[in-house]
Amino acid sequence: MMKVASADLTERILSKSGIVAAVAPDRAIDAFSTALAAILRFSGQSNLDALDRLQGFPAINLGSLTAKERGFLQAEIDSRIDRASESTIAQLQERVQGVIEARRRKRLAAYYTKPTAVAVMAEMAQLYREAHVRRKLIVADPFLGSGLTLTGAIKRIGEDSVAMAWGIEPYPLSAVIAYAALLYQLGGDRRRVRVEIGDAFASLGLGSDATVNAERTLIGADVVLTNPPFTRWELLDSDYRAYLREVVVGSPYNRFLARRQLNLQLVAMFLIDRVLKESGLLVSVLPASTFYTIAGEAVKRLLREEYVIHALIESLPDASFSTESGFKELILAATKVKPHRTPETTFISLGSSFDPSLAARVALAERAAAVASGVACINRVKVYDLPGIWDMNWLVFFGETRLRRIVTEVLTVAEKGRLVDSWANLFGSRGMIRGVEMYGPSFFLLPNDHWSLGDEENDSLLVKELHGDRSLRIPKEFLVATLRKPGLYTDTIRVHACHYFLALPPVELDDLPNDVAEYIDWGLNSNAARPAAKAFGNYWYAHVHRQLQAKRPHGRLFLPDKVDPRFEHRGAFANYTEEPVTASKNFYIVRSDNREDCRILAAWFNSSLFLALLLLVGRRLSETWTRLLKDDYLKLPVINARNLGRSSRSRVLSAFERLLTMRALPPLKQQLTSDYRFALDSAFAEAMGLQQPESAVRRLHAALRARLGNRVT
Ligand SMILES: C[S@@+](CC[C@H](N)C(=O)[O-])C[C@H]1O[C@@H](n2cnc3c(N)ncnc32)[C@H](O)[C@@H]1O
Repeated sequence: MMKVASADLTERILSKSGIVAAVAPDRAIDAFSTALAAILRFSGQSNLDALDRLQGFPAINLGSLTAKERGFLQAEIDSRIDRASESTIAQLQERVQGVIEARRRKRLAAYYTKPTAVAVMAEMAQLYREAHVRRKLIVADPFLGSGLTLTGAIKRIGEDSVAMAWGIEPYPLSAVIAYAALLYQLGGDRRRVRVEIGDAFASLGLGSDATVNAERTLIGADVVLTNPPFTRWELLDSDYRAYLREVVVGSPYNRFLARRQLNLQLVAMFLIDRVLKESGLLVSVLPASTFYTIAGEAVKRLLREEYVIHALIESLPDASFSTESGFKELILAATKVKPHRTPETTFISLGSSFDPSLAARVALAERAAAVASGVACINRVKVYDLPGIWDMNWLVFFGETRLRRIVTEVLTVAEKGRLVDSWANLFGSRGMIRGVEMYGPSFFLLPNDHWSLGDEENDSLLVKELHGDRSLRIPKEFLVATLRKPGLYTDTIRVHACHYFLALPPVELDDLPNDVAEYIDWGLNSNAARPAAKAFGNYWYAHVHRQLQAKRPHGRLFLPDKVDPRFEHRGAFANYTEEPVTASKNFYIVRSDNREDCRILAAWFNSSLFLALLLLVGRRLSETWTRLLKDDYLKLPVINARNLGRSSRSRVLSAFERLLTMRALPPLKQQLTSDYRFALDSAFAEAMGLQQPESAVRRLHAALRARLGNRVT
């Protein structure tokens, strides 16, 4: 009976305090009362009533509790107050994320910063403090969570250095714990802690009045240490997305947007910039994708215009800096000072054991500290002044540099001679088209899991049921030769389309030949065609035909939409057909009527220089796959065949002819010792105007061999 009563009280207290913790109410009330006990203890109080009067205390509505609920909560607090200590709160700071029910956690991106990252961030705050000893600092985190980054920093820089610590957090339990932790670190001085429960975007907005929120309690910060929520844009509800868009569009930050693309970390960066004072320090965990997506271009633009970007840090053994996040993340360190010259940014790869203090020194100042720090690799790059190709993906600046150096060398010469340019500049977006998307490959492609190809007659093709004895005759007018998927063509460049799309016109079944109608019937009964029937309704069987008519996706050159970046099983990258065919959506099809130009392009997309570029800038989908969007291909450099002289053209073509005639090309790494690849790459190197083309190709091959031999990181 007692248990039921206390469960009921627990539920009411949590609910009135705005704490949703349906999965673990016991843990939530324990954490809540421990945090309240700690707050009372650290501020020299013991009675719950004192919390109503605490300045800067998260606005939890304890006033709405009944006498009975208050009594219950007070008893819970009383039983904990003597044990409330720094370490109990520190444990809660780590654990509270586990109390949040999974969907809400995902929506909030409540994946708190890992201790190693907190340590590096705290060291950076310490270096900043050392450089600004004269004044006390305002430290802030607009995406506070349980306050791990801020408490880590205050511990390191010492409470004497702190004028104020403030943060905003929508999950009330985390906010209360953060408040308790900050209060402890600031010696119980309530005047120096401000925690708001709520939405940072709503509270602070992005207006130009950069120093106050609506209540005028959160003032501009000298140091922001943060790890903003990286919730996928699609996971946010549409009203909230519209609201954020409105906030950005109506703000001075609108000018940074690239093609109106938004995501939450981008809006978060704008907000952080709004609260950071001039010359302030920003240290933030950010998803690595910020530095290669279109939406991320706005972040790069903001940083380049308004900040000195000191460092970007990756961790080699553990891709993410947030607990259970799973994404590759980086730590960014920058100060809000307009860069006059073009300062260098340090790209740091942390090894498995490193010294956070030295790592921070490497990042912020002392270049010589690198050797002893456990930092695995450092590169210094002027990101303010980058060739377009490298700007596309800043991850290229981490790790080994040999391959990047030789590729840069070759491209620089070629760019000068106007012999390479981006695909977008040379052929525009229309020069390439994605292949056909179909619902139900087991129906729309022939052969498939259920039907094999039989004899061909003048105007029709026989298809035979694999697990039955039916044979149907499909008129050729409904069949379009197509490449099915890149995985089928990994060791041959010149291929033959060995599949057909079933491209039926939008007419009644009665108007189609009997065998075709029977095949459609089979598709519906066997489920093979159900997805299309469900998605397209009437004339669903015409959706491939419609795309072929509307998009005209035909060509001779085909580029895959994803590759294994180790090229372990792949000897051919781009495929070529002598006659134009179409392809599935796993390919991008190059539209060009000129066979010779297509061959030169096919040679380029199979050249070592292009493959090296891909290794350097490809977007990593996972450890094993790199995804290539059309936008990526549009930005990548392409040989400018029109500017090649006659003899260069014929040298490239004849070197390529040798690759075309090869039936089974071994994986790329093995080709790097072959004479046919050497001949092709040398033909390009010479065509691009390199002084010593063969030596450049030897260096390129050596760098590629080293790269492919190692784990690709
Ligand atoms: C990745 S966690 C980082 C938490 C903490 N700063 C840390 O480093 O451990 C992101 C935090 O942002 C909070 N958050 C999500 N949306 C928010 C918003 N609109 N305003 C303020 N905080 C938000 C989440 O609840 C979560 O605590």
